[in-house]
Amino acid sequence: MADNDAPAENITSNKSNASSEKEIEMSIDALASQVQESFSLSKRHKFWETQPVGQFNDPGDTSLPEGPIQQPTPLSEVKQEPYILPSAYELVTCDLDSEEVCSEVYTLLTNNYVENDDSMFRFNYSKEFLRWALCPPGYFRSWHIGLRVKTSKKLVAFISGIPAKIRIRDAVMLLAEINFLCVHKKLRSRRLTPVMIKEVSRRVRLENIWQAAYTSGVVLPTPITSSMYWYRSLNPKKLIDVGFSRIDAWDTMTRYINFFKLPEQTATPGLRKMEPRDAPDVARLLKNYLKQFVLAPDFDENEVEHWLLPKEDVMDTYVVESPGSHEITDFCSFYTFTWSIFGSQNHSILKVAYSYYNVSTKTPLVQLMSDALGVAKKKDLDVFMALDIMLNGTFFSELRFRPADGKLNYYLYNYRLKHGLRSSEIGLLPL
Ligand SMILES: CC(C)(COP(=O)(O)OP(=O)(O)OC[C@H]1O[C@@H](n2cnc3c(N)ncnc32)[C@H](O)[C@@H]1OP(=O)(O)O)[C@@H](O)C(=O)NCCC(=O)NCCS
Repeated sequence: MADNDAPAENITSNKSNASSEKEIEMSIDALASQVQESFSLSKRHKFWETQPVGQFNDPGDTSLPEGPIQQPTPLSEVKQEPYILPSAYELVTCDLDSEEVCSEVYTLLTNNYVENDDSMFRFNYSKEFLRWALCPPGYFRSWHIGLRVKTSKKLVAFISGIPAKIRIRDAVMLLAEINFLCVHKKLRSRRLTPVMIKEVSRRVRLENIWQAAYTSGVVLPTPITSSMYWYRSLNPKKLIDVGFSRIDAWDTMTRYINFFKLPEQTATPGLRKMEPRDAPDVARLLKNYLKQFVLAPDFDENEVEHWLLPKEDVMDTYVVESPGSHEITDFCSFYTFTWSIFGSQNHSILKVAYSYYNVSTKTPLVQLMSDALGVAKKKDLDVFMALDIMLNGTFFSELRFRPADGKLNYYLYNYRLKHGLRSSEIGLLPL
């Protein structure tokens, strides 16, 4: 089987560790050249240049300290009124508990959110997924922001934040994770995005929170790292059928399918679905595991329950309970959503698993992940995606993952790092 199974799945780039040092260097080089390209084209970022973010000419200037770029102001000095928009639009808070509002957000995203370059695939998160992703413990409803047309009340843009405790080296801070930025296709290039971002920043500051983290496929000032998605075919025939992956001319479909066959049974004794009673053990395992990364969330037990307890068609977590001692020694997890497929006669959705947190203390990580793939396959999922962050790069090759086209750039708002990070130094996994 050749390795140039060039996929069409650069959808990952819009939201996109390398298995070896060489690959890490390659991805840093690629990032550097993208930044360089921005310079050479004298590309200005009229909005981002005004924001407290690392600027393209910062790297190398070691006089700039690591840490917050701007100090907090008294809350009374934070702008109290929403930002002003062209008069046809109004900014609103989206109450996701309301079935109607949640459906509106769902519809906006389903029709307008992230696509791959040739618009063959588009992310399609279910309402359950959106509620789960946007309403973790301690969330602020005011951080779910919509833009409506005043006359028709149609929802035409959305941006969201959720609070998250994040550790950067030794500093733990509460920050906002910004996600699900979307502007209706018909209203693109009208500079609505800067208003949405300024409004979410304002509402975040009103909660006395001064930093944010976000990811994007596009290069903005300035990524702290650039990670790559890898994918593992679970349903190779369908992936070829819909144009997600390609088979080499010299290969046969039978051989191709056999190459991606997974064992019928999982290999790890004591592997079972996570249950509420496992939360303290999973929290402990995760905390210890995440210590090794420069940037990582600091989850408490409530958050572990929220993010990791299995939720039908959204989240799967499997723990390893040692058959003798009943100790929880390892766990693996993945979340699931669909992509809409356009232009295929046979299929309209792709069922995609995304590797989440995987912690091994006794079971070899490769075996644990092979079991995760087997479970995902049994659930009839089509493909298993994983970023090259954390220790993920160590299992890609053995488990027959392939690099996907795109990149996912990580950013911090109002926090400067002296040096960029390698993707393997990242333990934060925004959805
Ligand atoms: C991303 C999206 C909201 C941008 O909208 P747009 O109409 O093209 O851009 P606007 O005219 O409103 O604003 C342009 C500004 O937003 C910035 N911008 C564009 N995409 C951005 C992103 N993903 N994150 C942050 N800023 C972004 C641009 O860099 C530009 O600022 P600059 O002049 O400082 O460079 C829109 O293309 C979209 O909804 N895409 C599909 C969903 C998607 O990709 N969401 C982002 C997921 S990470």
